[in-house]
Amino acid sequence: MKSSQYSGFFKLSVDERMKEVAEFTGITEEEQQILRDANSLDMDKADHMIENVIGRFSLPLAVAINFTINGKDVLIPMVSEEPSVVAACTNAAKMARASGGFTTQSLGTVMISQIQLLNVPAPFAAKNRILEHREEIIKRCNEKDPTLVKFGGGARDVEVRVIDSIVGPMVIVHLLVDTLDAMGANAVNTMAEAVAPYLEEITGGTAELRILSNLADHRLVTARATFKKDVIGGEEVVDKMINAYAFAAADPYRAATNNKGIMNGVIPVVLATGNDTRAIESGAHSYAARSGRYTSLTTWEKDANGDLIGVIEMPMAVGLVGGATKIHPAAGVAVKMLGVSTAAELAQIIAAVGLANNMAAMKALATEGIQRGHMSLHARNLANTVGARGDIADQIVKIMIEEKKVNAEYAKELFEKLGK
Ligand code: MEV
Repeated sequence: MKSSQYSGFFKLSVDERMKEVAEFTGITEEEQQILRDANSLDMDKADHMIENVIGRFSLPLAVAINFTINGKDVLIPMVSEEPSVVAACTNAAKMARASGGFTTQSLGTVMISQIQLLNVPAPFAAKNRILEHREEIIKRCNEKDPTLVKFGGGARDVEVRVIDSIVGPMVIVHLLVDTLDAMGANAVNTMAEAVAPYLEEITGGTAELRILSNLADHRLVTARATFKKDVIGGEEVVDKMINAYAFAAADPYRAATNNKGIMNGVIPVVLATGNDTRAIESGAHSYAARSGRYTSLTTWEKDANGDLIGVIEMPMAVGLVGGATKIHPAAGVAVKMLGVSTAAELAQIIAAVGLANNMAAMKALATEGIQRGHMSLHARNLANTVGARGDIADQIVKIMIEEKKVNAEYAKELFEKLGK
């Protein structure tokens, strides 16, 4: 079996890293070129993706190493502007390897589409009538997307809620639609618009909004990993990390930052694979607030051996068909790198990366603090920027960190001295 574990990967040149990735993932020379080329998305495609296009915008594409997920090693493409994120999850993934890596599950690929019915006489009786017509509603939805049905997806169920609001009661219908490997926004919005007139007929109300919900709680994904106490610095570190988690679980101010750290891992993979980052963000945060109080998307516990176990559970509405995933050439290569054939597999990998980033942040915060790691990466960036490479760059980083003097002028001064 191929191993995603490398030592000193960060010290390789960009070309050397690409060579390793190509060997592992089997991406062709042409596909490698697509990843290298900031302009792989041609102007014509870009111009058809959004409106008023005047150019393109590129960000670094990196690879997270060391991940074992459900017994299989994987190299994970990540697009981010933030230093430390890739290093952090790579580190956590390495620690998780000692106990088998990450175990993940997809709890479904069902999206919710909402139809808002206003001015409904006798809303509770209307709810009852809608449910009596459940089969017909499902049939009408499925007529709108024979392709989805052919592949085994389609509308599955109907739920009805009567909610109170400042303009009075409203009847909210949820269409539950299995969108399989599509993110599904188009499919479920089309269905909602198609059945709205029928729901008006049944209820005597007026259909207003017809749109998916990003609180995709029928499209949850989970990941779990154990971190052996000896690998992470002893039982004291485990206890400190559980205290850190308890803080996030109890306090929305801390939970927001804790979850931001999770999204540090999630969003770069969502972006690299051409998926909708805002849908994932809104799903994550609304799910984190589902009890009425915003809390952590992860839980952390100590097991019988005194080791640390983390679990993440969150909505993950990503797709492999449609959208930018199919249009953006680099997104297609990113999907190939992951070797996934279903959206559910992609969603599980993303959850594992989120859990890894959360673990790394909590460990740093609970022990040495976040700045030390950030500073050494910042120092490395500065050394690189002034032109230092290899051993010289290592020396510059070491000196700047030891002397706690991490700035561009000093990096330049050191390079002038050591480079000669
Ligand atoms: C920084 O981008 C993310 C952290 O703030 C996350 C956290 O506090 O858990 C380090």
